[in-house]
Formats: sequence, C-alpha cells, structure tokens
Amino acid sequence: MWQLRLLRPVVCQRRLEFVRQLLQRPGQKVVAACRNPDNADGLRDLQQQHSGNLSTVALDVTDEDSITAAAESVKKSHGHVNLLLNCAGVLHIPGELSPETSLSRVTTDNLLRTFKINAFGPILVSKAFWPLLAKAPATEDNPTKLFARRKQHIATLLLHPGTVDTDLSQPFQKNVKPEKLFSRERAIKQLLDIIDSATSKDKAKFIAWDGQEIPW
Ligand SMILES: NC(=O)c1ccc[n+]([C@@H]2O[C@H](COP(=O)([O-])OP(=O)(O)OC[C@H]3O[C@@H](n4cnc5c(N)ncnc54)[C@H](OP(=O)(O)O)[C@@H]3O)[C@@H](O)[C@H]2O)c1
Repeated sequence: MWQLRLLRPVVCQRRLEFVRQLLQRPGQKVVAACRNPDNADGLRDLQQQHSGNLSTVALDVTDEDSITAAAESVKKSHGHVNLLLNCAGVLHIPGELSPETSLSRVTTDNLLRTFKINAFGPILVSKAFWPLLAKAPATEDNPTKLFARRKQHIATLLLHPGTVDTDLSQPFQKNVKPEKLFSRERAIKQLLDIIDSATSKDKAKFIAWDGQEIPW
C-alpha cells in the first residue's frame, strides 16, 4: 500500500532506486527506512552525494515499537511528510522461507510470517505515519486543498510495478519475457510518474506500471 502527498519531505522504506530518483529532484528531502541502516552501503553512498537531503531511520515492519519510534523520529526531524512509500516485502528468504509455489508448501508459520511483512506491515506503518501525512501543508499540485476535513487530502494508491529485476523476483525470472522484465531504473520512473499525476481524489486505487487501473 502506498500513501502519498506530493513534494517534500518523503519517507521511503528503502527501495534504493526510489531514494536515488527522488533525490534527483531539487530540494527534495528523503528519509529512507530499513531494518539496519548501519549496513546499508548504498544509502551511505547516496548520503555522501546528497549531504543534508537524505537521512535514514531503522524500521522493521513486523515490530510495532520500531514503527512507532521511526515515526516519532521523523516527526521530530521534519514535522510532517508529504509522501509515504511502503515497499517492504518478501516472497522468499534464503534458507528460511521458500516461495509458496504449491499448496503442499503452505504452512501456518510461513503464511503468518509473510502476511506480517507484506500485509500487516504497510497498514501499521500507515497508521503510525498518517498523522504526519495529515500535517503536510496543501501544495499547488493539490488543487483540492479546500476539503473541510484535512484527512481527505491524502491520496492512497496501490501500485503494481510489473516484474522488476530485484532479489525478490530472481527465482521467477526465467519465466518472464525479456521485454517484460523491467530494470529498477525503468520500474521506479514508471511508478513515480503515476504518483506524480495522482490527486487527493485517488482513494485506494490499484494501478499497474502502465497507468491502467486494476479492478479489485
Ligand atoms: N520485484 C518484482 O518483480 C515485484 C513485482 C510485484 C510486486 N513487488 C512488490 O514490491 C515490493 C518490493 O519488492 P522488491 O522487488 O523491491 O524486493 P527486494 O529488492 O527483495 O526488497 C525488499 C525489501 O523489503 C525490505 N524488508 C523485508 N522485510 C522487512 C521488514 N521486516 N521490515 C522492513 N523492511 C523489510 C528489505 O529491506 P531491508 O532488508 O533493507 O530492511 C528489502 O529492501 C514487495 O512488496 C513486492 O511484493 C515486486
């Protein structure tokens, strides 16, 4: 799930390419969240290139205390956020969790583990950051800023990125036609284009990488 408002600052659960492309925007402040910022070499490199515009915060989406602490930290440092990107997710964890490609592999423990990360995580992160999204000042790219209730400013989108060349899709890539396997650069550009064109009237829309709305 993605919640968004436009312009800065942005909280991005690390997909590094999102962070990289957002930092290309003049004056954009980005807070990148991941479980262990001290081990995030890619983020450290970006921090050196964009000093002052990129900060990091530790956040494990399966740990409510960690989510609350991350939201508190962002509140202290920035006061509000304009865009929240929820993009943590797993399909498999090497040596721990196999892809559930057949019913015979399904177990309660594995279901709970993936649901905690993929389904409950975004809801809990959204819950913690919602007050910071609601505090974001209305911007020119949000022409509906005169809604009486502030919470109505907030657009919510679910985005389908297509198949993207990441660790997550690696075990399944052999079945994907080359033209349907997107580079990270291309995938994130496509998703940011969709986010940029959203308005606060967009509520819980599910949109594919090519801009088509997916019924659900
Ligand atoms: N790749 C695709 O083709 C594809 C297609 C459709 C949908 N998606 C969806 O896109 C999302 C991102 O996928 P991806 O391809 O970017 O995967 P990825 O490269 O494997 O990245 C997954 C990220 O999830 C984070 N993560 C895992 N467990 C976490 C936890 N407990 N708390 C916080 N962060 C956690 C990891 O962050 P840290 O290790 O840094 O904490 C990691 O950076 C997923 O929800 C996936 O279902 C991907």
